[in-house]
Amino acid sequence: MSLPSINPTTTEAWKKLEQHFSDLPAGKAGVKELHMMDLFAQDEGRSSKMKISWNDFQVDFSKNRITEETLSLLLQLADEVSLKEAIQLQFSGDKINQAEDRAVLHTALRDFTSMKPEVKRSLKKMKKFSEAIIKGKWKGYSGKSITDVVNIGIGGSDLGPKMVTDSLSYYKNHLKMHYVSNVDGDHISETLKNLDRETTLFIVVSKSFTTQETIANATTIKEWFLKEATQLDIEKHFAAVSSNLNAATHFGISEDNIFPMWDWVGGRFSLWSAVGLSICCSVGYSNFEELLKGAHEMDFHFKDSDFSENIPVVLALLSIWYNNFYKCETEAVIPYTQYLEKFVPYLQQAVMESNGKEVDRNGNLIDYQTGTIVWGNVGTNAQHAFFQLLHQGTKMIPIDFIGFSESLHGNQKHHSLLMANFFAQSEALLQGTYKEEVTNNFKSFIGNKPSNTILIKKLTPKSLGSLIAMYEHKLFVQGIIWNIFSYDQWGVELGKKLAKDSLISINLNSTN
Ligand code: F6P
Repeated sequence: MSLPSINPTTTEAWKKLEQHFSDLPAGKAGVKELHMMDLFAQDEGRSSKMKISWNDFQVDFSKNRITEETLSLLLQLADEVSLKEAIQLQFSGDKINQAEDRAVLHTALRDFTSMKPEVKRSLKKMKKFSEAIIKGKWKGYSGKSITDVVNIGIGGSDLGPKMVTDSLSYYKNHLKMHYVSNVDGDHISETLKNLDRETTLFIVVSKSFTTQETIANATTIKEWFLKEATQLDIEKHFAAVSSNLNAATHFGISEDNIFPMWDWVGGRFSLWSAVGLSICCSVGYSNFEELLKGAHEMDFHFKDSDFSENIPVVLALLSIWYNNFYKCETEAVIPYTQYLEKFVPYLQQAVMESNGKEVDRNGNLIDYQTGTIVWGNVGTNAQHAFFQLLHQGTKMIPIDFIGFSESLHGNQKHHSLLMANFFAQSEALLQGTYKEEVTNNFKSFIGNKPSNTILIKKLTPKSLGSLIAMYEHKLFVQGIIWNIFSYDQWGVELGKKLAKDSLISINLNSTN
């Protein structure tokens, strides 16, 4: 079955939301004119009503420019575009990636209750392989154990595993991890300059095994390796993750060292598959399994909870409200932990490669806004960089603040400072200097700036899995409402083609 295709702007809910945004009944100002400080003053229970507690997550969405009526109209919008049906179609493996005629089943990679046999086999192979590397049983060509692992890939074959490896560095073992993605030769040279061929393992990760950057990098690295080692040594130092077995074996990688990918897993949703092999090597298989379990719990929450208590659904609806009614162009994500420094670049691919679309599911050009621009950086660093604009700039930028109640190393003094900032920022954005006597305009703050506060007990493999899955589902919901296909990425193809053409002319010019 195919996804329902409903132009959201033609729904009853959309029309009501438009009216609700600008004019309330009886000539009262629309929601856009209201200040959240007044909404809090009028309803003491606002904070507890606009909060979702789930597992170790507390999501406070009370600091948004909404009323209960807004929320109920947004929920009506979700119903009118048949979101429930769309979720069921995705989880049941229907080919909802219609533009590529594929199912979308990254959720099946973490479903231990009814796991596909090929996924089980792949996990088993990942466990065995990563344990041999970690325990030092896997020997390089000169008989030494592996000390360094290099992931060669780009986009989803790099950003996801790199982000998770970095985010979970508290849990990591002795292996040193490296990620080579950019076709910039300086990136490879910088990585290789400190590596020892005898003790390094290279994992070439490419679903297609045709991506120009990855194949160029892998080829250069193989040539570097063969300067001291022999062709026969490749099997001890090269592994691959790909759905293109032929190309990977043709490259010279032994079939035993090739891990599968499937066409029902998109690149930017693939860290849960064997693409996560570098994660396994870095934090061990059991932590990788915890990551999957955390994601699976979020899948369950998403699939089965009522929309009004469904974290990804509520976050997506709020984002639609700002994008399509307030006309906000961007949203910021600010994690209050240094461990999540790579979280935003990862999210940028997930969200923007998925929802940057201008054609709807009927193939028609769209005349409303889709895909939000996601950006951000870790707090507190970001406070001393771009927060000025968030507080006093003319643009409205909704924010997700992500924080953890417990620190990992237990430095309470620092954690208190960090969390004091975490709570203070959303409060300052909300309040501004509202109703305060400010005589100096340069020091006045309008406030009324929206944010969500996502407070999680502790950064663990499991909670990280849930957090990533939360954003995966949020972007899916947005795609459904915008009536676009979120799981293809034709938009990147033209640039790839033109790069090939310009390479031909660069080569021609240099030989002339
Ligand atoms: O160019 C975009 C893209 O296709 C991404 O969707 C993907 O994650 C990346 O390239 C890498 O692709 P592959 O894993 O096939 O090398």
